[in-house]
Amino acid sequence: MIPQSFIQDLLTRVDIVDVVGRYVPLKKGGANFMGLCPFHNEKSPSFTVSPTKQFYHCFGCGAHGTAIGFLIEYSGVGFVEAVKDLAQNVGMVVPENDDKIPPAQRAAYQAQSLALSEAMTIACDFYRQNLRNAPDAVAYLKSRGLTGEVAAKFGLGYSVDNWDSLRTVFPDYEATALVESGLVIDRTDEEGNNRKRYDRFRDRIMFPIRNTKGQVIGFGGRVMGNGEPKYLNSPETPLFQKGNELYGLFEARQAIRDAGYVLVTEGYMDVVALAQLGFPQAVATLGTACTATHVHKLLRQTDQVIFSFDGDGAGRRAARRALDACLPHAGDNKIIKFLFLPKEHDPDSFVRELGAEAFERQIHDAMPLSQFLLNEVTAEADLNTSEGRARAQFDAKPLLQIMPPSSLRLQIVRGLAQLTQSTAAEIESLFELVKPIARARLAPPRGNRPAPVGIERQIIRLMVAHPSLTSELDDAALAAVANFAPDRAEMLAQLIEASRTMGAQANFASLAEHLREGGAEFESLIAEIAAQAESDIETARMELTDAIRKTKMESLKVELAQLAATGMGTDDARNRYRELISQQEYLRRQAEAEMAQR
Ligand code: UTP
Ligand code: MN
Repeated sequence: MIPQSFIQDLLTRVDIVDVVGRYVPLKKGGANFMGLCPFHNEKSPSFTVSPTKQFYHCFGCGAHGTAIGFLIEYSGVGFVEAVKDLAQNVGMVVPENDDKIPPAQRAAYQAQSLALSEAMTIACDFYRQNLRNAPDAVAYLKSRGLTGEVAAKFGLGYSVDNWDSLRTVFPDYEATALVESGLVIDRTDEEGNNRKRYDRFRDRIMFPIRNTKGQVIGFGGRVMGNGEPKYLNSPETPLFQKGNELYGLFEARQAIRDAGYVLVTEGYMDVVALAQLGFPQAVATLGTACTATHVHKLLRQTDQVIFSFDGDGAGRRAARRALDACLPHAGDNKIIKFLFLPKEHDPDSFVRELGAEAFERQIHDAMPLSQFLLNEVTAEADLNTSEGRARAQFDAKPLLQIMPPSSLRLQIVRGLAQLTQSTAAEIESLFELVKPIARARLAPPRGNRPAPVGIERQIIRLMVAHPSLTSELDDAALAAVANFAPDRAEMLAQLIEASRTMGAQANFASLAEHLREGGAEFESLIAEIAAQAESDIETARMELTDAIRKTKMESLKVELAQLAATGMGTDDARNRYRELISQQEYLRRQAEAEMAQR
């Protein structure tokens, strides 16, 4: 759980106009910004972004939300990921502390990851140092065509042929951090006794794997001859998960920006060799299939991703998995391409044999995602038969369904329609592509309480739009609401609590995030406010005062009627009656005085 206070700080620092503007071209129109809605297909703009409310709203499909909500809907990422993404853009660090993790455990966790990270740095320096005194290893790198310069850039090293050489730099060779970081392996006998510890990496060229901050989180180690396995990798540790990390991303960041694209290869050696041969914008997956997390990470650095695969069956299969990983993130302003090298080549060998220019041409001619997708779904199908065309549509359906709605998706639908003798509209309806995707509209109605109507609803709505106004509510007002509408009283209590925790900074957007799970009534109020024109807080305050007074008046009227019905035979009843009448009088005079002032 990310603390609510952090979400609030974040929302006051990011500007939703910037965030949305990164994906949707926006034009100023009055107080708002307008553009074509990214969540449904439209020709004239009905999508608005309000800088004052820090909220977006589409009059066409009803999609609405904060900057966080926008990223979730647009990029298909989760809440935490969206928050991290936004935080990174404004230089804020998402606190890792989970409210549910006890502080002691949290401290222990931090201490552990620090120890792991320290151990990795020490080992990396040690391996690099070793390389200077290992002529065979240097000769191997030279034989692969690498210079000292590029080896230094990637921090390449060497692990000596010795069972416990890490003892040199870790006097406490038995430390738990060593086994938890994967640098050593503990072997025990069948009863789990007589543990014996030894270095995982021995007599290998060491490729340190860094995270985007540049910290060493893992290693790949290559044998210098024909031994098995060719590459030995760090195991998954708290620091290192293969499905999240890309080799060379840290080293390539500037080059990716300069080139305007990132090249995704399959091997450590490809990345290092390409950097040396004029393609420093290359990264590699770590011997695993490309994941959606990989793609998301890459698209944060650049708008164009070019995958390189071998031309053989394995390469095709890997490409297919990469396609699947890309689809949730494919959009109109992203270019994703697939490059298929001749069967016998990887990028390293291709450039060495055929030269950089030939490789440039390959990159230039890479196949766009749309075409690759259509190739994939039609490859096995005989489009001359109805069955074949149906088969192609069948295969395309799940792929198109995970794509966010976009012009690109429409183009692919058109392409598929042509190939399968259908129309785009037929495919869209058959594949159920034209359903609203905004979260609010997908949310099932919660409970069967009626939506609040009338004056209580107006009170709540004014306070959702301007949470700081909750301070205007006094006990009498709360009692009045409770009298009429216990449901609304509950909502009010929720609202007051939320705005109290948010403090002076409380605003509509933060409250909307705060009340994400607040229920269907809040959802519909938020949608309404998103669609409304801006209201300034002074006008809202006046409306609220009037509305509160009206509720109090109503409440008095009801109680007076009830008293009257009892016949008022007791002194208590008569006293109460007079009290209520004087309260009524007071409210009336107050209203007159305020009217005179306006
Ligand atoms: P390759 O066998 O294509 O190696 O494996 P490579 O990167 O071209 O290396 P060189 O040119 O032979 O030195 C591609 C990737 O698959 C993973 C590694 O990440 C490697 O870079 N792999 C391969 C392993 O993890 N273990 C292995 O034994 C082999
Ligand atoms: Mn290779």
